[in-house]
Amino acid sequence: MSLLPILRFPDPRLKKKAAPVRSIDESIIRLARDMAETMYEAPGIGLAATQVDVHQRVIVIDVSETRDQPLSLVNPEIVDSQGQQVCEEGCLSVPGIYDKVARAENVVVRYLDLEGEEKTIEADGLLAVCLQHEIEHLDGKIFVEHLSQLKQMRIKAKLAKQAKITA
Ligand code: NI
Repeated sequence: MSLLPILRFPDPRLKKKAAPVRSIDESIIRLARDMAETMYEAPGIGLAATQVDVHQRVIVIDVSETRDQPLSLVNPEIVDSQGQQVCEEGCLSVPGIYDKVARAENVVVRYLDLEGEEKTIEADGLLAVCLQHEIEHLDGKIFVEHLSQLKQMRIKAKLAKQAKITA
């Protein structure tokens, strides 16, 4: 297993739309494992392949308090959503920035697990938020794009400053 470098907003590669996975082979299984390790190390509760510059539809999530229930979802698709909730979100690609985003309260997501089995997950609360956030990454969208243009400009300026300090 290995840790993968995480792209940072506003890296243009975060805007790429990921392609569906055609077959779940060794490389996809290794990718999901490395992504989970990277997510735990960060630490974060979700990571999309887009964020590690792999443009295939794979996400990993763990919202458990014990950090031992990783979910790997291949080709995840929201097939139903209901209600609305507003939750403060952050993102490993936008370090140190948190803001409120309105999303569906409940979602039903269809996906393939790493054995290639078709599964359906019904989620609410934090897991529903996380699923929507990560699936959006696969479509090249980041949570800050839900915020005003002014806020996005401020975030870009703040991250540019951080990058200068750490460079
Ligand atoms: Ni994110």
